[in-house]
Amino acid sequence: MKPATQLIHGAEGIDDDATPLTTPIYETTTFVFDSAQEVRDYNEGKSGKFLYSRYANPTVLAVEKKIAALEGADAALVFASGQAATTTALLALVGGGDEIVCSGAIYGGTLHLLADIMPRFGVRPRFVSIDELRLPDTIFSPATRLVWFESPINPTLRCVDIAAVARACRARGVVSVLDNTFASPVNQQPLALGVDVVMHSATKYLNGHSDVTAGVLASSQALIDRVLKARKLVGAVLDPYAAYALGRGLKTLAVRVERQNASAMAVARQLEQRGRVERVYYPGLESHPDHPIATRQMSGFGGMVCLDLGGGYDRAARFFDRLKVIQRAASLGGVESLCSLPVLTSQWGHSEEELARAGVTASMARLSIGLEDPDDLIADVEQALAP
Ligand SMILES: Cc1ncc(COP(=O)(O)O)c(C=O)c1O
Repeated sequence: MKPATQLIHGAEGIDDDATPLTTPIYETTTFVFDSAQEVRDYNEGKSGKFLYSRYANPTVLAVEKKIAALEGADAALVFASGQAATTTALLALVGGGDEIVCSGAIYGGTLHLLADIMPRFGVRPRFVSIDELRLPDTIFSPATRLVWFESPINPTLRCVDIAAVARACRARGVVSVLDNTFASPVNQQPLALGVDVVMHSATKYLNGHSDVTAGVLASSQALIDRVLKARKLVGAVLDPYAAYALGRGLKTLAVRVERQNASAMAVARQLEQRGRVERVYYPGLESHPDHPIATRQMSGFGGMVCLDLGGGYDRAARFFDRLKVIQRAASLGGVESLCSLPVLTSQWGHSEEELARAGVTASMARLSIGLEDPDDLIADVEQALAP
């Protein structure tokens, strides 16, 4: 072979003698076949071979299998972002004329996707309050095909009775989807509570290092097959390199979340006891309105804490500006503790009435508790609150 050919084909491919401990990054867009018969077998579903990375890739598949086991699902799929997971799920599971019932207290991206884009395709969203979700038998119309909800809810960490909503959906053949991002599968197992599909922004706890944007859906094989067909066509799959990073982050999920649960509880308790803020929202505190529901359906209360400092926006902004260890950034679920002000992020531009409906005030600050020493986090919050 001449140099140009050698440079392309020389020593390329896998080494059968090297058995890696970790899953390698299959950074390839396509896979090699030995014969036409092998391609035919693949097309007829008779082989475990891979064809093209937009359809399936070994690095991506390894992460999907791990997440499916974690959620107690038949199968899982990963996507280029949480929003890519949501969009692909909707394209796969609903169509023109269908109604989606969605919790009004939902991630803003989900809300705008449903309210601004899906109606263009004849899909009608109807938003219901947390109070309405408490009576799940009343939320349906004859056109309802899918119910989308979250628990705990950003930023007040209000919780919805997941099993009750799932039961009402099952009784009517309506697909239930729970966004489990805030809890993580370590703290909450929605499929065991009867939900049909679990969704995650894996950008948050699943990856946990604030360096990968990814999404997840986990469900029964039948529903995942429908979503996979859509993902192949929409092309919203996760890149193998990002899948590798997500898989590496996942290995420490249990220890990260256990530590974040404990630190968040310590921060929340300390702040409540000191009485330096008007109110602390944390589902693990007995004072939280949904503490009984959270205790029933969660095995840990998560790493998110919301403070209402009282005294209006200026007090929250002063607290935010004075933080030294906790970083001022949107997002959550990483090893670094972060603070965001809901009125500048998730509730930006909302009217007084919309804020009141979401139970959000201008004096709230949301903390995502990371893996720093909890004493340093408490000291940071205390100095930022000092007169
Ligand atoms: C609860 C929740 N769901 C979905 C998303 C969207 O995920 P992504 O940003 O990975 O697209 C987010 C992002 O903040 C979120 O907080």
